[in-house]
This record gives sequence, structure tokens and C-alpha cells, in this order.
Amino acid sequence: MKKVMILSALLLSTSAFADERAEIMANNCTGCHGTDGVVEDSALISIAGLNAEIFIETMKNFQSNERSSTIMHNVALALSDEEIAAMAKYFEALPKGEEK
Ligand code: HEC
Repeated sequence: MKKVMILSALLLSTSAFADERAEIMANNCTGCHGTDGVVEDSALISIAGLNAEIFIETMKNFQSNERSSTIMHNVALALSDEEIAAMAKYFEALPKGEEK
């Protein structure tokens, strides 16, 4: 029983850690994708509320250049699968901006 409690405490703390890290990593995206992933200026793309699976697929496509974007190719290449997965969850959970 004690072991189970220690284990679940560990699991809880690692997931909190992952969220915090995702938030810090996500700050690298705000310059182009807006604070909290929402862009007021419609020339830029909001990524808040993007479905996590689509987010991961999109980042993979940027990495492989299947979807070509010089900027996002470099951004995506700098990220590990784990980091992409953490950010996918993070951005999915953010509220979308106003529909334009
Ligand atoms: C220097 C500017 C810049 C930075 C920094 C940047 N992006 Fe982008 N991002 C873009 C541009 C430009 C596009 C549009 C690419 C295209 O399809 O031509 C884009 C597209 C995307 C898309 C696809 C959106 C859609 O609706 O299809 C995702 C997802 C994305 N970026 C995630 C991120 C993440 C996550 C980060 C931070 C790790 C990030 N970007 C940092 C400029 C940037």
C-alpha cells in the first residue's frame, strides 16, 4: 500500500513537471503564434486549441518538410518527440481565440 502511494505521488509530480516544462517551451512560440497561442493579428496563425493529434502530425510534417516552411522546419527539428507531445497537450488545453 505504501509503495502504491509513493508511486502515485511520483506519477503526479512528473506530470506536473511536464506541464510546467511545456509552458516554458511554449513561450518560444508566442512571438509568432501569440501569447497563449492566440493571435490577434490575423496575418499570423493561432495554435491554441489545436487538436493534439493534428498538432503532432503537423510538427512531424514540418520536420520532414512534407509541409514546407523554413521557419517551422527549424522550430520542429529543435524539438524531441517528447517535447512535441507535451506541447500538443499544452496547446490543445488552451482556449481558442475568437473565430475570425
Ligand atoms: C519565427 C516565427 C515562428 C515561431 C517562433 C514558431 N512558429 Fe509555428 N508557424 C510559423 C509560421 C510562419 C507558420 C505557417 C507555416 C506555413 O504553413 O507556411 C507556422 C505554423 C505552425 C503550425 C501549424 C498551424 C496550422 O494551423 O496549421 C503549428 C502547429 C506551429 N506553427 C507550432 C509552433 C510551435 C509549437 C512553436 C514553438 C515551439 C512555433 N510554432 C514557433 C512561425 C513560427
